[in-house]
Amino acid sequence: MASLLQLLPFICLHLLIVIASTSSNQTPKPYIVYMGSSSKTENGDVEDTELAHLQLLSTIIPSEESERISLIHHYKHAFKGFAAMLAEKEALALSGHEGVVSVFPNSLLQLHTTRSWDFLEAEGAKKKSRSTWSHHKNCKPSSDVIIGVIDTGVWPESPSFNDKGFGKIPSRWKGVCMESPDFNKSNCNRKLIGARYYDNTNQNATGSSRDYIGHGTHTASTAAGAHVGNASYYGLAKGKARGGSPSSRLAIYNICNQTDCSTSNILKAFDDAIHDGVDILSLSLGIEAPYLQDPVAIGAFHAEENGVMVIASAGNSGPLPSTVINTAPWIFTVGASTIDRTFVSTVLLGNGKAFQGSGISLSNLSHSKTYPLAFGKDIATNLSVVSQARRSQELQWRIIGSKENSGQNSCLYYQSTVSYETMILAKAKGYILVDEVYKAVPFSTGLFPFVIVGNSQGFQIINYINSTKNPTATILPTVEVPRYKPAPIVASFSSRGPGPLTGNILKPDVTAPGVAILAAIVPFGEKPADYGFMSGTSMSCPHVSGAAAFIKSVHPTWTSSMIKSALMTTASVYDNIGKPLKNDSGYYANPHQMGAGEISPHNALNPGFVFETTTKDYLRFLCYYGYSNKIIKAMSNTNFNCSKNSSHKLISNINYPSISISKLDRHKVATIVKRTVTNVGSVNATYAANVQAPSGLAVNVYPKKIEFSENKKKVSFKVSFKSKDPDSGYNFGSITWWDGQDNHVRMVFAVNVQ
Ligand SMILES: *[C@@H]1O[C@H](CO)[C@@H](O)[C@H](O)[C@H]1NC(C)=O
Ligand SMILES: *[C@@H]1O[C@H](CO)[C@@H](O)[C@H](O)[C@H]1NC(C)=O
Ligand SMILES: *[C@@H]1O[C@H](CO)[C@@H](O)[C@H](O)[C@H]1NC(C)=O
Ligand SMILES: *[C@@H]1O[C@H](CO)[C@@H](O)[C@H](O)[C@H]1NC(C)=O
Ligand SMILES: *[C@@H]1O[C@H](CO)[C@@H](O)[C@H](O)[C@H]1NC(C)=O
Ligand SMILES: *[C@@H]1O[C@H](CO)[C@@H](O)[C@H](O)[C@H]1NC(C)=O
Ligand SMILES: *[C@@H]1O[C@H](CO)[C@@H](O)[C@H](O)[C@H]1NC(C)=O
Ligand SMILES: *[C@@H]1O[C@H](CO)[C@@H](O)[C@H](O)[C@H]1NC(C)=O
Ligand SMILES: *[C@@H]1O[C@H](CO)[C@@H](O)[C@H](O)[C@H]1NC(C)=O
Ligand SMILES: *[C@@H]1O[C@H](CO)[C@@H](O)[C@H](O)[C@H]1NC(C)=O
Ligand SMILES: *[C@@H]1O[C@H](CO)[C@@H](O)[C@H](O)[C@H]1NC(C)=O
Repeated sequence: MASLLQLLPFICLHLLIVIASTSSNQTPKPYIVYMGSSSKTENGDVEDTELAHLQLLSTIIPSEESERISLIHHYKHAFKGFAAMLAEKEALALSGHEGVVSVFPNSLLQLHTTRSWDFLEAEGAKKKSRSTWSHHKNCKPSSDVIIGVIDTGVWPESPSFNDKGFGKIPSRWKGVCMESPDFNKSNCNRKLIGARYYDNTNQNATGSSRDYIGHGTHTASTAAGAHVGNASYYGLAKGKARGGSPSSRLAIYNICNQTDCSTSNILKAFDDAIHDGVDILSLSLGIEAPYLQDPVAIGAFHAEENGVMVIASAGNSGPLPSTVINTAPWIFTVGASTIDRTFVSTVLLGNGKAFQGSGISLSNLSHSKTYPLAFGKDIATNLSVVSQARRSQELQWRIIGSKENSGQNSCLYYQSTVSYETMILAKAKGYILVDEVYKAVPFSTGLFPFVIVGNSQGFQIINYINSTKNPTATILPTVEVPRYKPAPIVASFSSRGPGPLTGNILKPDVTAPGVAILAAIVPFGEKPADYGFMSGTSMSCPHVSGAAAFIKSVHPTWTSSMIKSALMTTASVYDNIGKPLKNDSGYYANPHQMGAGEISPHNALNPGFVFETTTKDYLRFLCYYGYSNKIIKAMSNTNFNCSKNSSHKLISNINYPSISISKLDRHKVATIVKRTVTNVGSVNATYAANVQAPSGLAVNVYPKKIEFSENKKKVSFKVSFKSKDPDSGYNFGSITWWDGQDNHVRMVFAVNVQ
């Protein structure tokens, strides 16, 4: 039997964090001890710190429990630290120790799961003149960019990972292809150049790089899958499948075993990947935690320090504000949007009324037959009292009221008031879900008839059930709707800004396709498909990873902040009918919903100029945020000092490609922020600023004109914000620099007036 996991409707494939159970305080649990940047010896080798870490542990752990003086993980390449079994008071004692930056419990990220590229390109191409376009047409992208995917592993046999046409693996690559009974060295090739897994907690390691969950295979193929003709999900969405950067190589870091994904593994994967030589790391996962207790933030900081770009998903907790995660300024944070293809399934009620909803199923129910319709809640109740025999006879349909327990920052599989198991027990013929947030997200449910409708339609269906003696319904087969308009739309589940940790960096950074994305999957069932649909910011994140790899392959010398800036300042804020991009309730989307906008990879090849954000800026950010000089010194390889006047306010001054001010006092003096930009376009260029601001907010840029020349590659400008009498709360706008020709460099801002 196919695993139940795979039959469940997929959504929000963003790994869910489950806080480790609160067992007795003194029972040893795995903890992560983070100790800052690793010190390199004079000849560049990394000092062996394992012994020192064991010695440190032996000063904390009582000698009669000496078996605990061992490391689950030892972090050493890009940063120092370890994971070990510690009692709470030992962890506390360690956290005050010289050289220790932070100590936090290991937690589990629990797993409960083609058209997109053409769409992005078609949209992007419309906006640039032909000349810029063709400029890069003849330019063959290099195949030396390596994308590391920290996820649930990979299904290496997928056609998306074939290495046809690839040359030798870049010599700088130091990674490995770890073997296990189900994964051979020959499963790696010139495309899939590395695979590692982490399963050190269990002596009888059952770990493998093979993906049994499906998430990692989908994200890896979205980022860098090869060109594969005739890909489809049983004939749906037929076309050519390919990742964002088909010429790039992939390295897989599986942080999950078959049941759990642990955060101490994430740090180990970062440490290995940085050492192995990846250029870009893609993480479709995350947790809510302060920066220095968040393995993604810590790992990404050191990745960035070592020139590795980190791209991560924003989370699936929208549309509520302040739900975005992975918000450190050194992370490229990605929200999700729709593409111009959708899948409609229609509910036909016994009274002849029809309602269109979303869903992808291969069911072949027809108009002619309808089935009894009942509330899921009632069925669940009845199931516990009614005999097995009666269940299968009577209960055929269920309708689930609006969701009650889809936890915050929810993930992998959609939870509803009635479990899928109950449905199977009841031999339900189909499933109608009423859910306003997911009404436009077509889940893929195999043969099982499934549809999601919004509240207004749901209300009418519920009314019909309430007012009818024997309510009946059917769900008609899924219809693919190509060239759907308008698109993109910001997906309602996509997590929103402002960032919960600081409102002085604008997050998310951008959006990319994340609804009903077709990509490689783990095959299952009798007639397995190679491709399948998933939705979530987990799917939009690798779109940006692929786009970044594509830019890197054309501009190999660009740093990660240059690539990020290029993708942000050229992002599109219009949909395919030429109107401003909207959200799921029909309002214009603001930067807390979509960041700088929808990425436009081809336009990002020629951004004009870029905002470079350096490691120093990130260290300043940590100072301004409030971490001590001592901690920041430990994290940096330089003798950097925090400035005495560090304050939260100064975070807005970090050289970031967008501006956010979390508190602008009404009627007070103007707040001024400074930016420095670097020319990457024509040597001689002049740009003029054009400000778009809400009427009550005075926004001035000076100088209004900036000029680049042979010996002036960097230019600074200031922007002042003063409230005249704007609406209280967040005000949004943008500053667009135009060179009079093809280049528009757009910088968005969010200013909270209080
Ligand atoms: C690994 O290689 C062995 C021998 O070459 C082969 O029998 C086996 O099927 C391979 N396993 C996988 C998972 O490819
Ligand atoms: C490992 O396997 C052996 C034999 O199969 C078993 O006795 C032992 O308890 C296992 N150890 C762990 C840590 O699971
Ligand atoms: C394309 O795939 C479909 C099934 O998905 C198959 O019936 C058809 O023969 C394939 N066409 C080609 C040209 O491979
Ligand atoms: C997976 O890892 C978790 C902790 O990392 C461990 O408790 C669990 O036993 C592992 N499961 C398997 C099947 O190895
Ligand atoms: C509908 O699909 C089911 C399951 O695939 C199959 O058994 C049945 O024969 C199909 N019915 C029709 C009318 O095609
Ligand atoms: C649940 O059981 C009660 C009592 O047997 C029955 O009246 C009702 O119709 C059942 N509900 C459903 C949804 O089958
Ligand atoms: C339908 O009936 C249920 C109880 O049977 C009630 O809770 C619900 O409010 C009713 N809904 C509508 C839309 O009438
Ligand atoms: C759309 O934007 C409006 C205005 O910003 C907001 O009130 C609404 O909640 C948003 N809806 C969704 C689904 O994002
Ligand atoms: C930081 O401060 C220390 C002592 O106050 C000083 O020796 C060092 O030069 C400073 N570093 C920098 C980069 O200014
Ligand atoms: C901090 O204060 C010093 C002097 O008081 C000033 O020169 C410097 O520009 C300030 N730094 C920042 C980042 O504002
Ligand atoms: C830039 O302008 C200078 C001075 O006008 C000129 O000498 C130089 O040739 C120009 N460079 C390019 C690349 O156009």
